[in-house]
Amino acid sequence: MSSSLPSSWVSRSLQSVWHPCTQMKQHEQVPPLCVVKGEGAWLTDDQGLVFMDCISSWWTNLFGHANPRINSAIKHQLDQIEHVMLAGLTHPPVIELSEKLASLTAHHLGHAFYASDGASAVEIALKMSHHFWRISGQTQKRRFVCLKGSYHGETLGALSVTDVPLFRQAYGELLSEPFIVMSPDARGATAEENAQDVALRAALELEALFQKEGTQIAAFIIEPLVQCAGQMAMHSPIYLKRARELCDQYAVHLICDEIAVGCGRTGTFFASEQAGVWPDFLTLSKGISGGYLPLSLSLTTDTIYQAFYADTMAQGFLHSHSYTGNPLACTAANACLSIFETDHVLLGNQTRSKQIEAAFEWAKNDARVQNFRQTGMILAFDVAPDWALQHPSFSRDLFQQALRERLLIRPIGHTVYVMPPYILDEEQIAFMGRGVKAALNATLSSSKNHALGEIKP
Ligand SMILES: Cc1ncc(COP(=O)(O)O)c(C=O)c1O
Repeated sequence: MSSSLPSSWVSRSLQSVWHPCTQMKQHEQVPPLCVVKGEGAWLTDDQGLVFMDCISSWWTNLFGHANPRINSAIKHQLDQIEHVMLAGLTHPPVIELSEKLASLTAHHLGHAFYASDGASAVEIALKMSHHFWRISGQTQKRRFVCLKGSYHGETLGALSVTDVPLFRQAYGELLSEPFIVMSPDARGATAEENAQDVALRAALELEALFQKEGTQIAAFIIEPLVQCAGQMAMHSPIYLKRARELCDQYAVHLICDEIAVGCGRTGTFFASEQAGVWPDFLTLSKGISGGYLPLSLSLTTDTIYQAFYADTMAQGFLHSHSYTGNPLACTAANACLSIFETDHVLLGNQTRSKQIEAAFEWAKNDARVQNFRQTGMILAFDVAPDWALQHPSFSRDLFQQALRERLLIRPIGHTVYVMPPYILDEEQIAFMGRGVKAALNATLSSSKNHALGEIKP
């Protein structure tokens, strides 16, 4: 790569590319990294520098970049059929994928409706739920419930059930108002409570809402076990178990948004499995195509499917996206599911998850850190308020310091997390733990007057 290329790519990008989730003016200080190649967990920029993708490219990548098996499956499919619409037509990759997903849910969720991005899968689940109640003559069931700090995407329907003020505030007038209930976030436990206690307390609040408003509620949507964009807030599976019971009792649909937590992230293939429940709708995206191509879907039950199965067109689910069930994306997903099976990935991740904990052992006793937590392949901690207060630009600073350590991380506010692909070996995991520690030291030591005195990393 020539040396004139890097700055030219970045400046051309800044002229024409409007980046997601970004105040573009901040790129005056921190230009985007121009990635030209990926291999395994490593990304190479246009200067030839290499970075470990510790956050799986926004939680999408499972088996590394340029994975030979996924590459070869897509290349083969490319020579068969690259894309064809799914209305009136079907194709082997989407059939195989739907069958596999049905069997992974033990056929509780045997019907897959496809889209491209996560938010669209959420839209589908919300619309299907609403439409189901309408068909069933319960037209008053139009409201949705979500958790405090929830994140379900940024199209208008998905944003309506997202409780992140920064994302919502400009669009409030366009959004419908959900009921927002207490999060079972284990960090909310009082001194006398453990994670289960706080989860049960949160479930009581959900119950009270259902008692009062259940007749107008269509569905409760939740990110099971980990509210990822909501600062990696983790909760006990008992909440989900209780939520399922309450949804049954009050005739409310349960939507498990597994877009971030599905596909093995939390230790089981579906996070819902840890609570021993199946929702009425389960949304997947991100990892399902291994981080290769936009693919999302909403799985649902026979009961829901049958309600739409009728002689009248209007009773059908008349929702579509042009790239619904794209064959290349489905092929990538099928390749991923086959890797899960042949490589015993969930078993391997049990070891990896312990290695990740060991690599971050330092953080458990670090006075600058609190709320150390881990669920499967997601590890997170918060920077203690005394330190956080002095570093308003903490997340950007840590991002940059981590790049110096050859790590790509993207803290959420004062929450630091890693969510790497499922291919790191012990040495690479240790490299990640050491690098985050060094980056944190460099970031926090840049403060002149910190309240806690000496840094004791
Ligand atoms: C739980 C959850 N739901 C929905 C979405 C939206 O997915 P997408 O960004 O593909 O629209 C995300 C994205 O981070 C997510 O984490």
